[in-house]
Amino acid sequence: MSSANSQAIGLHKLDLETPALCLDLGRYERNVERMVDYIIRRAGIAWRPHMKGQKAAPLAQRAVAAGAIGVTCATVYEAEAMAEAGIRSILLAHEVVGERKLCRLAALQRKSTVIAATDSEAHLAMLAAAALAESVTIPVIIELNVGMNRSGIAPGQPTLQLARRAHTTPGIRFLGLMGWEGHVLAFDDEEKKRQTQSAIAALTDTAQLCRDAGLPVEIVSSSGSGTFRNAAPLPGITEVQAGGGVFSDRSYAAWGLDHEFSLTVLTRVASRPSPTRIITDGGFKTMSKDHGFPEPLGLPPAKKIVLSAEHGNIELNDPSETPRVGDTIEWVPGYTDSTVCLHDEMVVLRDDIVTEVWTIPGRGGRR
Ligand SMILES: Cc1ncc(COP(=O)(O)O)c(C=O)c1O
Repeated sequence: MSSANSQAIGLHKLDLETPALCLDLGRYERNVERMVDYIIRRAGIAWRPHMKGQKAAPLAQRAVAAGAIGVTCATVYEAEAMAEAGIRSILLAHEVVGERKLCRLAALQRKSTVIAATDSEAHLAMLAAAALAESVTIPVIIELNVGMNRSGIAPGQPTLQLARRAHTTPGIRFLGLMGWEGHVLAFDDEEKKRQTQSAIAALTDTAQLCRDAGLPVEIVSSSGSGTFRNAAPLPGITEVQAGGGVFSDRSYAAWGLDHEFSLTVLTRVASRPSPTRIITDGGFKTMSKDHGFPEPLGLPPAKKIVLSAEHGNIELNDPSETPRVGDTIEWVPGYTDSTVCLHDEMVVLRDDIVTEVWTIPGRGGRR
């Protein structure tokens, strides 16, 4: 069965089957250019955009063509898709566990360099066992907890001890350190700056501690789209992982990112039960409500918007004849990361004409 819009090349956006996940290439390219300019040209460090929210491999190829050193991934499945698309340097910024997945991670080293994150000796031993079983070397980066309190080992001596172990473990090549300062996203400007500096200092001070102990620290990796403007100019970081900023959305905007919204969800009006109510053909199976609520564009002011599974239910402040049944309504996602993964394909448009349709690999539960 062919997908809804797989034959849509050349169509106008308004003629697409809905709901459809749409990428405006012009806006996307301007966002990429701003990230390249800020991170690579001005801060003078590398860009390794996170693909966990972008998913589609052509976006990785475009980022690399624009100057990215490679990509960051969250899952082995994503890393496999990126390697398949020819991306040769991949950071898997999550601890991969389970024998079969570790085996896939090790085997993938034959295709691309896939740097694995670790934060414990127990996990390092699993990576080493997988590397030896596959007769490969796994490059490793140590994940530090720089304040987010997710995974990550404590900065300072605990990291140094693990780095020493990684450096001397057969099957492992110690490459450096990473830390993600996700806990600072929602702070206001000044506090965010201060907290970012202190999180990054924990990372870069520990990198120095490791170097002083004679360890080779090639990579010091950090930061996302809501923090890279504060983090990238700080001394000691070699690369940033900011990815979702190529799309932006209502969450990133709330976190202070002023990029254009390049990714939208196109729906149609399925019903107008009353002059103040609009029902669309896309609900929370099409647009996630996590991290922020999606916003419909170009409508009169609404007093309430509810998403059920397959419907959007918009209640306008005042009666309005438009939009009519069958008209399109475009939404800015609340969070693109948790919206892209609901779709099978991304419709790519230039000046509202479909130029390509990309499949989204690894969208659902595939790890
Ligand atoms: C390890 C890691 N790095 C960076 C980021 C930031 O990614 P993005 O720029 O796509 O928001 C995240 C986001 O959750 C992350 O988990």
